[in-house]
Amino acid sequence: MPTITFTSEKKEIQVPAGANLRTEALRAGVQLYPGVHKYLNCHGLGQCGSCRVLITKGMENTSRKGLLESARLAVSLAAIGNEQTMRLACQTRVNGDITVETKPPLNLFGENFFS
Ligand code: FES
Repeated sequence: MPTITFTSEKKEIQVPAGANLRTEALRAGVQLYPGVHKYLNCHGLGQCGSCRVLITKGMENTSRKGLLESARLAVSLAAIGNEQTMRLACQTRVNGDITVETKPPLNLFGENFFS
């Protein structure tokens, strides 16, 4: 069974192969949504973009991005600088061990902007 490690929450859960990341996170009590999006979200339809996470390890163990997810992330400012690691939890299937950072901060100018 794949293991999902949530770094911010310091929580590890085991899920069946092919499980939906959003469903499993919420079932385990991991809060994916920042602020008011806890109540105002699309409930997994891939429309709001508020369930975005960073897959910091094991991206190869997730399902490929679909057209809907790619399109949604393409118009998201939060994806800037995180194109390779950002996913929508509701559109991600877990096929192997992954490490997840929930509620990633905006990184509009990159880490070295002010240096
Ligand atoms: S819950 Fe809205 S995009 Fe995932």
